[in-house]
This record gives sequence, C-alpha cells and structure tokens, in this order.
Amino acid sequence: MSASVRLGIVGGAGWLGGAIAGAALAAGAVRAEHLTLSYRRTRPERFSGAFWTADNQVLADRCDVILLSVRPQDWPSLEVDAKGKLVISVMAGIRLAAIGEKHATSRVVRSLPNAAAEVANSYTPWIASGDATEADRAITRAIFDACGVQDEVGSERDIDYLTGLTGSGPAFPALLAHVMMRDAIAFGLPPDVARRAVNTVLTGAGQLLEARDASPAETVQTFLDYRGTTAAAIETMREAGFEQAVANGLAAAFRKSLAMGNT
Ligand SMILES: NC(=O)c1ccc[n+]([C@@H]2O[C@H](COP(=O)([O-])OP(=O)(O)OC[C@H]3O[C@@H](n4cnc5c(N)ncnc54)[C@H](OP(=O)(O)O)[C@@H]3O)[C@@H](O)[C@H]2O)c1
Repeated sequence: MSASVRLGIVGGAGWLGGAIAGAALAAGAVRAEHLTLSYRRTRPERFSGAFWTADNQVLADRCDVILLSVRPQDWPSLEVDAKGKLVISVMAGIRLAAIGEKHATSRVVRSLPNAAAEVANSYTPWIASGDATEADRAITRAIFDACGVQDEVGSERDIDYLTGLTGSGPAFPALLAHVMMRDAIAFGLPPDVARRAVNTVLTGAGQLLEARDASPAETVQTFLDYRGTTAAAIETMREAGFEQAVANGLAAAFRKSLAMGNT
C-alpha cells in the first residue's frame, strides 16, 4: 500500500481504532496528513498531524479507505455513504453483505483484529467481497501487517470462528494470569511479586512458543515427559476439565458471533 492512501477510521477515538491508527502510523503504512479519524463525544489529543472530525460523512468524503471501528450495537445508526470506496470493517459479527448494502459499496473487507494491535502483535483474519480488487487486498494486508500478523481466510464462517479464538484470544491468557495470580496471593506472595511472576511467565511462554516454532502439543508433551511438577499440574488441570472448559468457551464465542450477524 502506498502511504499516500487516505485512510479514515470511524471510531478512531476507541480502543481498537486508536490501536490500528497508532500501528499504521508507526509502520509508515499511512502518513499522519492522510489519516482522518472520527469521534463521537470527546476529541482525543492523539495523532498529531491527523484530522479529527465528529462528522462521519466528512471523514468518508476525505478518504479512499474507510475503516469501521464502532461497536456492533452502534453500527445500525451510523450513516456513511461510501460509494466507490473500500470499506474495511473490524466489527465482530457484522457480515460483508450487510456492510456493503448499508454503505453503498461493493468493495468490502470484513476483518477481526484483536487487542494486541495495541502492541503491533494482533492476529487478524480477513475476507474480501467479490468486487474487492487486488489493490484493495494489498491495502488491507498493509494495514494489518502493521498491526501484527494477518491472513486472508476462505469463508465468513472462518471469521465467525476466529472471532472467539483470536479476536477474543488475548483475554484467555489474561484470564489464566488472573487465576494464577489470585492463587499466588492466596498462598501468601506479596501482590507485586505475584504480578511480576505471572506476567513474566505469560510473556515468556508466548516468546518460547514463537521461538521453538513447534506445535503447542509438542511443547506440552516436552513438559509432560519430565514427569515432574509440571506434569502433576497439567494432569490435574485436565482431570478438572480444563480442555472441555476451553472448548465450551470457544463454542460460546462462535455462537455469539453467528447470532450477532443475524440481528
Ligand atoms: N477491542 C478489541 O479487542 C476488539 C477485538 C476485535 C474486534 N473488535 C471490534 O472493534 C470495534 C471497536 O471496538 P473497541 O473495543 O475499540 O470499542 P470502543 O473502545 O468502545 O470504541 C468504539 C468507539 O466508537 C465510537 N463511536 C461510536 N459511534 C460512533 C459514531 N457514530 N461516530 C464516531 N465514533 C463513534 C465510540 O465513541 P464513544 O466513546 O462516544 O462511545 C468509541 O470511541 C467493535 O466493533 C468490536 O467488535 C474489538
């Protein structure tokens, strides 16, 4: 993508919209003077050199690419005519056809980044409508490469599944960290020691998985093969239903994503 593309982020004052803007600017995927962001209530003091507006049609008229980053429940009341433009949605649940119809364009991308876009480490699956061009795909790749790792996937059903697996994904290690930290504090460790210990384990485990480039199953097996404390913990967690709890949680997120697209 050429950095001369004019990108507009509807909901740029929000968590994900702001994270994508920050990552795209930092990677040089967009220049500040070509970036427009919209807000609803309070104009943020961020992204110097970019243009802020509370009028989403002004944003659309200034831009070639319009990225929708409002919450799904705020989308029905969002009036933006994007005729002839590429619209990229990061909204959970909302389908390609509905986005194209509402915003009067047949060039639509549906994507699902995650909260790690804030540290340029999101996993972002996306799918494009039939009329999206190769240039539209290149722009999409450039934006989400700036945010971490991206993949074009084969169906919207894949996006609905990945909405739970990776869109919600950073919440799951966070939940594990929370439970581990609560246990450590109940044991009697000082909270600041417990927090540093748990956070370091979680970030270290992520880096280890990446560096070894093995499947998670192989990594778990390596730990089990020691037949020590780790194996005792893993076997007890499994007996207590750890794997079923994760599968049930992912299935609930998948159902929720499908249901959001039906409303
Ligand atoms: N955060 C994540 O980890 C994550 C992951 C995957 C997908 N997503 C998707 O990303 C989207 C945004 O999520 P988020 O977490 O960034 O939510 P958020 O922090 O609430 O951001 C949404 C922003 O949109 C603004 N907004 C609402 N209606 C608007 C309008 N008409 N014009 C301009 N701005 C408007 C909101 O303004 P107010 O401050 O006035 O409410 C808010 O600043 C959602 O559709 C979600 O499904 C998020």
